[in-house]
Amino acid sequence: MKPTTLDLKEVATKTVGHYEANATRFWEGTKDHDVTQNYEALLGALPKKQGLRILDFGCGPGRDLLHFKSLGHFPTGLDGSSNFCSMARDYSGCPVLHQNFLQLDLPKQSFDGIFANASLFHIPRQELVRVLSELRICLVPQGVLFSSNPRGSSEGWMENRYGAFFEWEEYEEYLRKAGFEPLQHYYRPAGLPRSEQLWLASVSQLMLHPG
Ligand SMILES: C[S@@+](CC[C@H](N)C(=O)[O-])C[C@H]1O[C@@H](n2cnc3c(N)ncnc32)[C@H](O)[C@@H]1O
Repeated sequence: MKPTTLDLKEVATKTVGHYEANATRFWEGTKDHDVTQNYEALLGALPKKQGLRILDFGCGPGRDLLHFKSLGHFPTGLDGSSNFCSMARDYSGCPVLHQNFLQLDLPKQSFDGIFANASLFHIPRQELVRVLSELRICLVPQGVLFSSNPRGSSEGWMENRYGAFFEWEEYEEYLRKAGFEPLQHYYRPAGLPRSEQLWLASVSQLMLHPG
C-alpha cells in the first residue's frame, strides 16, 4: 500500500541505487531480451522514415538505444544511474542524459517518440500525471509515447525498489489526464493466457487539444 507521506528523494535514491549496485548483473540478465514487439509498436505509430528523434526513458545499459540507432534513428537515453549512463554511452555511442525521473529537465518539443520500456512503473501514482505531462511537453505535436510496465494495482517498496503497478483501465486515465490519447494496448509475453501475461504495454499520441 502507498505510504501516507512519501519521501520522493528516498524513492529515487534507493531505487536508482539498487540498479547502480546491480548494473553488470542487470545487463547480463536483460541484454538478450526480445522486445521487438515493443520497438514495432512505437515505430508503427510514427512516420515511416529514418532520423526519428527517440527518447529512451530509463534506458538502462543501452540495448534499445543501439537498436534504434541501427535503424537510422537518433536516439537519446535518459537514466538516473551513472553506471547505466556510462554503459549505455559506451555500448550505443548515443547521447545519454543523467536525470532523475522525478526532477526532469527536458527540452520542449525535441522528440518524435518516447520509448519507456520497464521504467515508468518506478514513478509513484501521486507523481505520474506530472511526469507524464513533462514527457508530453518534450514531444513534438503528433509525438508518440510507448510504455511497458508490470501489471497490477499495488504500490510500494519491493526490497530496495519502489514500484507502482496499473491495470489498463486505471493507467489509461493517467495517460488521458496528462494529455495523451491511447492508440493501442496489449499484454506480454504474446501468446500466453492473460493470467500469465504480467506486462502491460501501450502506445499513445499527444492529444491535439488536451482538456
Ligand atoms: C527495469 S530498468 C529498465 C531498463 C531498460 N529500459 C530495459 O528495458 O532494460 C528501470 C530503469 O529505470 C531507471 N530508474 C528507476 N528510477 C529512476 C529515477 N527515479 N530516475 C531515473 N532513472 C530511474 C533505472 O536506473 C533503470 O535503468
